[in-house]
Amino acid sequence: MALRLSLLQVFAAAILASFSLLLAHGESAATVRSCTTHDHHNTLAELFPNSATGVLNATLAIIPISLETARRLIPPQYGILERAYRALVPSFPEGMYPLMVQAAHDHDVQLRAYGITIDDFSRVGFEFPLLDLAGDGYSSFRWAPAQLISATNPIALEGSRAYGTLVTPAKYEPLCDAYHRLANGHTYFRGVGLDSSDLFELEMARLSHAALNPYPLELFKNITNQPTFANATSCDNMIRLFNTSMTVGANAPVHVHGRVRARAFPFQEAEKEWTDIYGVQVATPFIENNYLECRSMRGYSGTGGPGDSYVHEANVNDEL
Ligand SMILES: *[C@@H]1O[C@H](CO)[C@@H](O)[C@H](O)[C@H]1NC(C)=O
Ligand SMILES: *[C@@H]1O[C@H](CO)[C@@H](O)[C@H](O)[C@H]1NC(C)=O
Ligand SMILES: *[C@@H]1O[C@H](CO)[C@@H](O)[C@H](O)[C@H]1NC(C)=O
Ligand SMILES: *[C@@H]1O[C@H](CO)[C@@H](O)[C@H](O)[C@H]1NC(C)=O
Repeated sequence: MALRLSLLQVFAAAILASFSLLLAHGESAATVRSCTTHDHHNTLAELFPNSATGVLNATLAIIPISLETARRLIPPQYGILERAYRALVPSFPEGMYPLMVQAAHDHDVQLRAYGITIDDFSRVGFEFPLLDLAGDGYSSFRWAPAQLISATNPIALEGSRAYGTLVTPAKYEPLCDAYHRLANGHTYFRGVGLDSSDLFELEMARLSHAALNPYPLELFKNITNQPTFANATSCDNMIRLFNTSMTVGANAPVHVHGRVRARAFPFQEAEKEWTDIYGVQVATPFIENNYLECRSMRGYSGTGGPGDSYVHEANVNDEL
């Protein structure tokens, strides 16, 4: 597997090298460069030069859907670990399942040791957390079957397709940030398929107290650190750190409430709108281990547990 990973990295390096060359001579280069973001820079690249690292600035929102709907949408071979989400949110409504929308801006992604940097991109999609992919009754995996990804980033589009993800090239508002602020103070995010009618639109207002959010930060930390899969040929292990300067103090996660409008797989009916949705806006640095064998992640409990202690032992938290 180590060999497979390094081959993939070299492959990625090759694509990137030719892509940057193209960009340097193409018209789009100016457009890409003029795009300035408010995201903080990647603090992990130096510490983990042999891994893909980056910053993910995201709105994470929970849409409670009925367990029957969840069962209809999620492939039947993956059990739903209801006990796991009840342990995290005991008050979660009876008979419901926490579907998540992740609307994010990927910034400063690097594979430092190879001198690789990837252009920023946005992505959004429905994610089905807390699934029993390994069949052991307790390891949580997250099914992310489809994504809208910035059409301007072929590396991101292909990188996601390699998981068997249904990828829709998309354009975003705002172009270079995780969201922007409307005149009424709410945040706004919109992604629209270039050649399809797929769409996500989020408008969120800040909650005055974290206690008004029925979902604790722990739920989002837990979900976003679950290995992700699409067609389960391979799994993505993205370790998101919630205990760095990017996520504490002035940058602490913001609890939000608002609405999500969407038309995307696997909801194939007409456009839907959910109001009264709760979530958080949080930026985290991440370390990403791509294209792992899903079964090798059985028993993995993510950050907050061994994930953080691993980084902790390396003593990096103090320096971030
Ligand atoms: C996340 O994005 C928002 C909106 O652009 C920005 O204000 C904030 O500084 C970003 N946070 C980090 C830690 O990058
Ligand atoms: C996520 O929640 C489950 C269920 O409570 C728990 O077993 C697991 O250890 C949690 N993982 C993390 C990273 O907190
Ligand atoms: C999953 O997707 C990958 C990438 O498109 C493909 O190579 C693989 O054959 C697919 N596997 C299944 C079981 O559909
Ligand atoms: C982050 O880690 C430090 C040192 O381990 C600890 O003192 C602090 O409480 C942690 N902060 C958060 C928000 O978890």
